[in-house]
Amino acid sequence: MNNKGTTARGLFATKPIADYHEEAAGKHLVRALGIPSLIAFGIGGIIGTGIFVLTGLAAAQHAGPAIVISFIIAGIGCMFAGLCYSEFAAMVPVAGSAYAYSYATLGEIIAWFVGWNLVLEYMMACSTVAVGWSRYFVKLLDVFHLHVRDSLTSAPFAADTGFHVHITGAIVNLPAVAIVAAAAALCYKGIKESAFVNTLIVAIKVSIVVAVIVFGAFYVDPSHWAPYIPQNTGTFGQFGWSGIWQASAIIFFAYIGFDGVSTVAQEAKNPARGMPIGMLGSLAICTLLYILMSSVMTGLVPFEQLNDAAPVVAALQPHPQLAWLKFWVIVGALAGLTSVIITMIIPQARIWLTMSRDGLLPKSFGAVHPRFRTPHVSTAITGVLAAIFAGTLPIDILGELVSIGTLIAFIVVCIGVLVLRYTRPDLPRPFRVWGVWYIALGGVLFCGMMAYSLPNETWWRLLLWSALGFAIYFFYGYRHSRLRHAAAARHR
Ligand code: ALA
Repeated sequence: MNNKGTTARGLFATKPIADYHEEAAGKHLVRALGIPSLIAFGIGGIIGTGIFVLTGLAAAQHAGPAIVISFIIAGIGCMFAGLCYSEFAAMVPVAGSAYAYSYATLGEIIAWFVGWNLVLEYMMACSTVAVGWSRYFVKLLDVFHLHVRDSLTSAPFAADTGFHVHITGAIVNLPAVAIVAAAAALCYKGIKESAFVNTLIVAIKVSIVVAVIVFGAFYVDPSHWAPYIPQNTGTFGQFGWSGIWQASAIIFFAYIGFDGVSTVAQEAKNPARGMPIGMLGSLAICTLLYILMSSVMTGLVPFEQLNDAAPVVAALQPHPQLAWLKFWVIVGALAGLTSVIITMIIPQARIWLTMSRDGLLPKSFGAVHPRFRTPHVSTAITGVLAAIFAGTLPIDILGELVSIGTLIAFIVVCIGVLVLRYTRPDLPRPFRVWGVWYIALGGVLFCGMMAYSLPNETWWRLLLWSALGFAIYFFYGYRHSRLRHAAAARHR
């Protein structure tokens, strides 16, 4: 074999599933999570900025009352991907999630690409959500007539169109930095503690969402739902069916997080059962809540009035009888976003841990705290980077990247499940997707359509992000890959 051939094969070398099982059997992380904690973990990651912030813009500018259809479309795409994730996570219950599944099926360079996109999904989402948290925090302070200087609650940089960025005059978004630091400290301390706090917060946010649905339902005026699908304005994405798809790509963000459950597979008491139930259960509950919540919101006011950074509050505004709910919506949003931040830091740290053990990242990323039994170094690095981004960067741009990065990971997982059915049909599958061709290709189609509906600029930014990722891979991971070193040693 000439050098070129070896290199190409090395780039697409796959890691044996048995190696993952061996690593997972090592006593590093603590198995503390039962099924209720796993479902709560999923819901903790799902309900947040999507429903509390983005729904308004998506309804007002793209879909109108048909935002409900957008939620159904995005929900179906996620359900397909969730089924594929469940088959993998029950079969290969390791912390690396989509990165590890790709390494086992499609090869190292694809795995790196997916892992690099998962940084967008988890770490950048954490920063994005922290900025949303900061806005709601300022709103809460307003309720108590307290005010923090604007220069301390917004980022020093803001995005213009294209790749331009300008200086705003602000110093730092302090509340965003503080919430990331607090969440990272909790995740550093322990998975049990994090899961406990998360479950508490999830109970609060779900109760508030249910309260908006139940009490809001009495004031719904069905005339606000007509026409249900406003006519397209002549521009792609402005109402009509193209608007519905574009809105589904925007509110797809609202579903991100269920897949985070797969990254705590090594900390689940019974991953074979817990992974599918945790992921699909949380997804089903949230899909139902989203459909009901968006129906109520568009029924309370004409959809144009939802064009607000706090659309749930805007929907309650014209109804004095519901004024008491506004304060609770702010509390629910703050609680919701806090648990999203927690459940984004945890997966990021575990994915880095797995990548480091494979040699694609420096060794320190794989360290586990002797007492807390958490990947403390990766957690601290995630916290510091996410806090810096949240405090300083034009997060709007990064927010768009979160969705595209996640959609790509979902598509690769759907393809990976199919590949493994043919390359390793013998592997025991505690959870087996029924009609795998339909489900996996359905996932590719729905997620592909949502990715296609994202603005062109997002694709260009993804290209830039990917170039940076591959540069790091060839500079470090390619040279330190344990799989490649082992193969080279065998050939010597
Ligand atoms: N699904 C999470 C949210 O909407 C990321 O905030």
